[in-house]
Amino acid sequence: MQPTMRRTGSGLDPLPAAEQPNWRHHPDHERTQRRLATAEPLVTAEELAEVKAALATVAEGSARMLQAGDCAESFGDASLSHTAAKVTVLNELGDLFGKKLSQPVVRFGRMAGQYAKPRSNAFETVNGVEVPVFRGHLINSAEPDPASRQHDPRRMLWAYHASAEVLGALRTHWEPESHSGPWTSHEALVLDYERPLVRSGPGGDFLGSTHFPWIGERTRQLDHAHVHLLASVTNPIGCKVGPGTDPETALRLCALLDPDREPGRLTLIVRMGGAIERALPPVVRAVRQAGHPVVWLSDPMHGNTVRAETGQKTRYLSDIIDEAAAFTRIVEEQGAHPGGLHLEVAAEDVTECVGGPVAGERQLGARYRSLCDPRLNPEQAFELIDTVY
Ligand code: PEP
Ligand code: CO
Repeated sequence: MQPTMRRTGSGLDPLPAAEQPNWRHHPDHERTQRRLATAEPLVTAEELAEVKAALATVAEGSARMLQAGDCAESFGDASLSHTAAKVTVLNELGDLFGKKLSQPVVRFGRMAGQYAKPRSNAFETVNGVEVPVFRGHLINSAEPDPASRQHDPRRMLWAYHASAEVLGALRTHWEPESHSGPWTSHEALVLDYERPLVRSGPGGDFLGSTHFPWIGERTRQLDHAHVHLLASVTNPIGCKVGPGTDPETALRLCALLDPDREPGRLTLIVRMGGAIERALPPVVRAVRQAGHPVVWLSDPMHGNTVRAETGQKTRYLSDIIDEAAAFTRIVEEQGAHPGGLHLEVAAEDVTECVGGPVAGERQLGARYRSLCDPRLNPEQAFELIDTVY
């Protein structure tokens, strides 16, 4: 596959892209991308039109959106039973959310493709040995030894097959007569994986890897390849907006990603942590005034990650509740519709965040199982929705 090119004074240069794997030298690098380029797309153009129409009802204010799942999925979870457990929690949370707000809830799993992670540091020290950091099962193994942590492009094919398996299981849970979804979503991070899965459809090219790809906080540079790729496909898409997002940047993202001001096309996923009171009002105001009918979604997880005294990454349920509540108030004050919630939540009773049944940081060791960021357990997620809405 050709990387995305742009014309410059000196000819055609690939667009810069942050957070990409280091695997170009691997003998299977080209072959795996050719295999992906001829693989069946995982989603259909008809499904994407249905998802976009459902999100348009959220943008217009008559429905809500719930997006939830693991920070990083595991290849080991690509089974019918794991998928069923995740769907049960997602639907129970969606039902509670809808009941509290008296609106239908469009559901998305961080599922069937959430296998690649941006990371702050390239290396970490485990038992005194410096190893490349785990970057998701699409890139390397979580096992903390130097060989397992090498980036391996063959994992792109394994990720494709695991995604197909999870999506097949997910389809058995679709109940269009009672709600929309659960649809699939993941961060479209690894360009060597996503680009070969672009397919042409009736209304233009679409990304065949998932229903709802999003751009992460670390890869939303306006002149980089991720924004360019998602601007070029017709899927409904998301883009994270963190505490450093000024109104000008938000407007330029909207202009690139939603040039036609199409309801349901673009979801802005707000993850501002304690900066939300200062940073969000001018962003909502500017986007409203420019007439972009975006879905406003609160991710109250990623701006609230702290290091526990035990050394683990954690989040306090009270901080998460505060951000989600502030989001609702601010968006409504600006005359817009608070479209919903984006959570990292496990299907099991994990002890990764503090609050509710996890009384303090000392309890984190009991069942800390996340491959990446700390997730709420189901009880904590129910408490969050019950308290905020
Ligand atoms: C994530 O959603 O897991 C993530 C990495 O988020 P962000 O890009 O907002 O940091
Ligand atoms: Co995360």
